[in-house]
Amino acid sequence: MLEVSQLSKNFGALAATQSVSLKLAPGARHALIGPNGAGKTTLINLLTGNLRPDAGSITLAGEDMVPLKAHQRARAGLARTYQINSLFLEFTPLESVAVAIAQREGQAFRLFGFRKFGAAAGEEAAALLEAVGLGSHLHDRVSLMPYGQQRLLEVALALAGKPKVLLLDEPAAGVSNEASRRLFDVIEKLPADLAILLIEHDMRLVFRFAHRISVLVGGAVLTEGLPSEIAADPRVREVYLGSRHAA
Ligand SMILES: Nc1ncnc2c1ncn2[C@@H]1O[C@H](COP(=O)(O)OP(=O)(O)O)[C@@H](O)[C@H]1O
Ligand SMILES: [Mg+2]
Repeated sequence: MLEVSQLSKNFGALAATQSVSLKLAPGARHALIGPNGAGKTTLINLLTGNLRPDAGSITLAGEDMVPLKAHQRARAGLARTYQINSLFLEFTPLESVAVAIAQREGQAFRLFGFRKFGAAAGEEAAALLEAVGLGSHLHDRVSLMPYGQQRLLEVALALAGKPKVLLLDEPAAGVSNEASRRLFDVIEKLPADLAILLIEHDMRLVFRFAHRISVLVGGAVLTEGLPSEIAADPRVREVYLGSRHAA
């Protein structure tokens, strides 16, 4: 579904991404781990089109993504979660997701009076929110929702675009342990054909989620394999040795 080949990005003298290759099959549950500064977020930014690579290729279902802008890649099926933008804070979850669905459908809307959406979008939005565990919060005000629920809403917003690949960059950052468990319950139940690339520091969550793991160090892939192979790899242990994220 997603094929990344020999992708490179330099920031001045810093090789932030060094010839990274990665393949996600439909339905992949792939984790990207590595120490702080390894280049994980940079890789996500290259995939989404927020950064342009210096070299290498990115294809989604065979389509070259590199010439496409970020919104075109999103429309092609490459989604990431963003922190809820300020526009949505005054909305309810139902309104936010319904607007995202209306946007996907190319329905014209104006910035003001923006809360109007069709019944079909409303129904689909309610079902999506139900699926992420926000079914009893359809009409809450987003700005007043706890942080953990806002993270769930961000997942629903990403899903509203009907993506083929979902990129999750530390989705549980800053939420309580309990909210983070709930978030991962939801992530585990996402559609089986959706390919997911997850960046996560908590190794218990990584090993619970991932079917394959890539380890990024200094911008390059140190190794890639099954969770059992990664856990047993002495080079990976060395990278994490003495770190609080020890595998
Ligand atoms: N826009 C940028 N300009 C210059 N350096 C950057 C930029 N973004 C990230 N970096 C550097 O690239 C390296 C990788 O950063 P990042 O991708 O955020 O790592 P990670 O997400 O793995 O912690 C770091 O050394 C960081 O300081
Ligand atoms: Mg990061």
